[in-house]
Amino acid sequence: MNAVGNTKFWTWLLAVATGTLLISGVVFAIDVPKDKQEIKIEHLKGKKGAVTFPHHKHATEFKNAKGEPLTCKTCHHTEKAEPKSAKEVKGCPECHMQEGQPQKEFNGKKAPYMATKSGDDWDKKSVIFHKVCLDCHKKLATAEKPIDKCKNCHGGK
Ligand code: HEC
Ligand code: HEC
Ligand code: HEC
Ligand code: HEC
Repeated sequence: MNAVGNTKFWTWLLAVATGTLLISGVVFAIDVPKDKQEIKIEHLKGKKGAVTFPHHKHATEFKNAKGEPLTCKTCHHTEKAEPKSAKEVKGCPECHMQEGQPQKEFNGKKAPYMATKSGDDWDKKSVIFHKVCLDCHKKLATAEKPIDKCKNCHGGK
């Protein structure tokens, strides 16, 4: 092999190595913790009932309205886009308190309550989960997959 061939070989090898790193970077992007693949969300204990949330599928499979994969930050809005470890990601109730509790602050701003009451029932517009979950679901709902409908998340009720 002459010197030119050699340079080409090393350039090629470097390209392959870089490519492998990039691909493994994608393959090994962090996932949700093993014991949080599916989460039962039931903080409000209202009439609509608990929501079974496919957490792992959202983090690894589902796409947003632009066709891009979701990042942890899509929902965990106070985290970095790619947290180093899944365990360091905080749950929503660490900051979003139940109505009447002292409100937590982050970056000098008060975190709104998880939801507020309107009369005896929860005001559905105030549910912070709706602002994250339902906003996206409304954009992506189709006739075949009406994921914006109440029963998609709240079951038959
Ligand atoms: C994309 C998922 C999703 C959809 C669709 C959705 N919700 Fe919810 N909703 C939630 C989550 C998550 C909670 C929080 C549950 C908890 O913490 O107990 C919630 C809570 C609520 C609550 C307060 C808690 C309770 O049990 O009363 C009401 C009321 C409510 N939703 C009404 C509705 C109505 C009405 C619709 C349809 C117009 C709807 N939701 C559609 C996810 C959804
Ligand atoms: C589509 C929204 C969404 C995406 C995307 C998402 N999560 Fe979550 N995650 C949630 C919700 C909602 C909860 C439950 C919060 C609750 O009930 O308090 C949760 C809970 C968690 C918890 C448990 C926190 C605790 O202390 O209870 C961890 C850890 C976590 N997520 C890590 C991640 C990581 C890491 C990623 C990215 C790989 C990710 N999540 C992507 C919405 C999401
Ligand atoms: C470290 C604290 C912290 C954590 C953890 C956190 N939030 Fe928040 N959140 C805040 C603060 C502070 C605000 C108010 C920001 C502002 O006013 O600009 C906020 C605002 C919001 C809003 C906008 C509310 C509105 O009325 O416009 C939504 C929706 C929301 N959070 C949902 C969530 C969800 C869902 C989770 C869990 C996946 C979560 N947050 C976790 C601190 C937090
Ligand atoms: C950025 C977009 C986005 C956000 C945010 C989001 N979802 Fe989804 N969700 C999707 C997509 C996309 C699907 C899958 C539709 C399909 O089957 O192709 C889905 C499906 C679901 C399903 C049905 C799963 C199944 O396999 O039938 C449930 C339940 C659900 N989401 C609950 C939630 C809850 C609760 C939240 C908030 C904590 C949430 N989603 C936040 C995009 C989103």
